[in-house]
Amino acid sequence: MSDSMQLIPAEYDFVVVSNRLPVDRVTDSEGVASWTRSPGGLVTALEPVMREADGAWVGWGGQPDLEIEPFENNGIHIVPIALSASEIEEFYEGFSNDTLWPLYHDVISSPAYHREWWESYVKVNQRFADAAAAVSAQGAVVWVQDYQLQLVPKMLREIRPDLTIGFFDHIPFPPYGIYSQLPWRTQILEGLLGADVIGFQRVADAGNFLRAVRRLTPFVTKNPVVEVTSDSQQTRRVIARAFPISIDAKGFEELARDPKIQERAREIREGLGNPRTVMLGVDRLDYTKGIGHRLKAFGELLAEGRIDVQDVTLVQVASPSRERVAAYMQLRDEIELTVGRINGDFATMSHTAISYHHHGYPREEMVALYLAADVLLVTALRDGMNLVAKEYVASRFDDDGVLILSEFTGASDELKKALLINPHDIDGLKDTMLQAIAMPKKERQARMRSLRKRVNENDVARWSSNFLKTLEQARASHNGDETAMELPDELEWTVDRRWTN
Ligand code: F6P
Repeated sequence: MSDSMQLIPAEYDFVVVSNRLPVDRVTDSEGVASWTRSPGGLVTALEPVMREADGAWVGWGGQPDLEIEPFENNGIHIVPIALSASEIEEFYEGFSNDTLWPLYHDVISSPAYHREWWESYVKVNQRFADAAAAVSAQGAVVWVQDYQLQLVPKMLREIRPDLTIGFFDHIPFPPYGIYSQLPWRTQILEGLLGADVIGFQRVADAGNFLRAVRRLTPFVTKNPVVEVTSDSQQTRRVIARAFPISIDAKGFEELARDPKIQERAREIREGLGNPRTVMLGVDRLDYTKGIGHRLKAFGELLAEGRIDVQDVTLVQVASPSRERVAAYMQLRDEIELTVGRINGDFATMSHTAISYHHHGYPREEMVALYLAADVLLVTALRDGMNLVAKEYVASRFDDDGVLILSEFTGASDELKKALLINPHDIDGLKDTMLQAIAMPKKERQARMRSLRKRVNENDVARWSSNFLKTLEQARASHNGDETAMELPDELEWTVDRRWTN
């Protein structure tokens, strides 16, 4: 443990550990540094929970060599972890985002396996574990997030056996045939099994994990429990199961009801030339999101004269992401070439075909876009959950708008009243886009009402309370309460459902 870590008081009963902090350090052109909200669904999901819990958040500030003392930000105690430029290259861009990310997303892009990247992953995971151990009070609950930190649960348990440790995997866990490619597959499983509860987005992900445990470790699994036996023959019970993540649904609806945001939505439509239909895509610029598939379908519909730029515009927000990883640079070139071609071929002086934006936007602007959009296109080839789909639904308090949703997203397990598509089937996608454009108001409303019921019931508060309740039970059972491992009623639905690869 570093000297500076030893100075942090071990006083927090609830600690979240994630690769990124909920705030990012940004430096402007004049060298002035400030903190802004981080991108991505993880922060969106956890921020409200943290505020209520008065806990500490351990994570990286988003820039190299940031040696910053812990500080308070909007009611959250922030504990920054420093990463050097070479650790960013090897741990973050390398092992996390060029090995694990493509491997866990069905090898859509080829994973690269480099031993130095793995060594950096081990070293950085140890640093996060040390920092979490240093800030946690005796018997605290520590919740570790996502694929960048899969070794932290075991490392943390070794330093602090008194802690109750949860882990949540925000991305898919791949089928064994794919997972088994990973040279460090057993070490990763052992790292995760240091937790008391391991959460996944989908029932299928938990099934894939349990199957990998059976194939690669000597431990017995009795769905959803893994019996982890130590060298001294002591057995610890680890729960591995689905806890589908969600959003702050009320927060989105509140914004959507704000007259200023509704006015902004009208302005957006006007700026686009008031087309009859606005279609919208909102994604990190990532090869898992199927942006190219969506553009292909849209371009073909224009080329075939089945839609016209006077009537239909596609707005694509593609927020910059992992820009120094080669696969992401190549994707950006491909997407921007395609957008340029489609606009060159079909735009008129008054109407553009695709309004393309390579930026992130504040939440207020996103909600205005959701209100302005008649159709939201989610065409991911593989996605742990896809919170954009849920944000769109939560914002549509007017019970209008059509959600087209890839069946390869976690969200499709819940949002059955969306128009579900296979993004690889371009003809099917085109037909569904036309169906969405032509859908009668009554049907739009009936579908949206049912989607909204689901999203409002299963919001982020319910997700975190379900997860934390299960962790509490794990803690009680460690303290000798044998009845404590019975699952809370409202979780049972996730246990019995189908297990698919
Ligand atoms: O949900 C997956 C995830 O990788 C999160 O862990 C992360 O916060 C978000 O996407 C954005 O990715 P990155 O931190 O690499 O910019």
